[in-house]
Amino acid sequence: MRIERELAGLRAATGAWRGAGQRIGLVPTMGALHDGHLALVAEARRQADVVIASIFVNPLQFAPSEDLARYPRDEAGDLAKLAAAGCDLAFLPTPAVIYPPGDSTVIDPGAAPGSPAEFWEGAARPGHFRGVATVCCKLFMMTQADVAVFGEKDWQQLQVVRRMVADLLLPVSIQGLATVREADGLAMSSRNRRLSAAERAQAALLPALLDRCGAGLAEGGAVEATLAEGRAGMTAAGFAPDYLALVEPASLRPWPEGAIGAARLLVAARLGEIRLLDNIPVLVPPRRG
Ligand code: PAF
Repeated sequence: MRIERELAGLRAATGAWRGAGQRIGLVPTMGALHDGHLALVAEARRQADVVIASIFVNPLQFAPSEDLARYPRDEAGDLAKLAAAGCDLAFLPTPAVIYPPGDSTVIDPGAAPGSPAEFWEGAARPGHFRGVATVCCKLFMMTQADVAVFGEKDWQQLQVVRRMVADLLLPVSIQGLATVREADGLAMSSRNRRLSAAERAQAALLPALLDRCGAGLAEGGAVEATLAEGRAGMTAAGFAPDYLALVEPASLRPWPEGAIGAARLLVAARLGEIRLLDNIPVLVPPRRG
């Protein structure tokens, strides 16, 4: 596996691949890789001839109060996993490569009212999606990727990136891949490494409570009442929910009471210092009773 840290080396590789007519797949990551990331690499392999994985803990998507310094890092372990997964090139830029000295341009995916970046994570973490959109746009252009694969675990991020690619007419296809879960149902996430043993055991209750709430909605329960019950259940189980919301899957707007069809149920909840995110699809039937 080739390892590149500078733009010139990356461009030499991608230029040669494109010249040979090869399709380039990209898996953008922040490292601390787990099986969920490796599933993204496998999907990129299916969709492209060559696969690039980027590892960059993007400072622009962390607020000053957030966990940038404590974000888990394991470069040697990550490179071994990527090589074993058949990745062709690992791109590990420094912040100065992504944000050249004096840089003053960002992509703001929440520029228009009602954009998918406005709600939930966008409201809880102001500026977060500006950082995500800016780095993803740069990575798409730097790697000249034909396809980029993202996990559905960060459902809103996937929709924000899709919207940005459509708005900026970028020549990259965005593919989502179903969340990979631990044996007890917890959605895989790099931040899970920071849970204590007791918190890790407790964390498995979150997907179970999410499923229970989703089942209530899929059985025709009133949306607001079912969500309120779900939040209460999470609080009783020791979580501090930021939000538990039923949304329209692409726009992320709150699901209107009485609407029917394919929705997404999103949760963000704190367990100690760690913020856990998860989501599931829900098919909302006509209201019961
Ligand atoms: O999901 C992540 O790991 C990050 O938000 C991403 C997409 C790599 C951008 O920094």
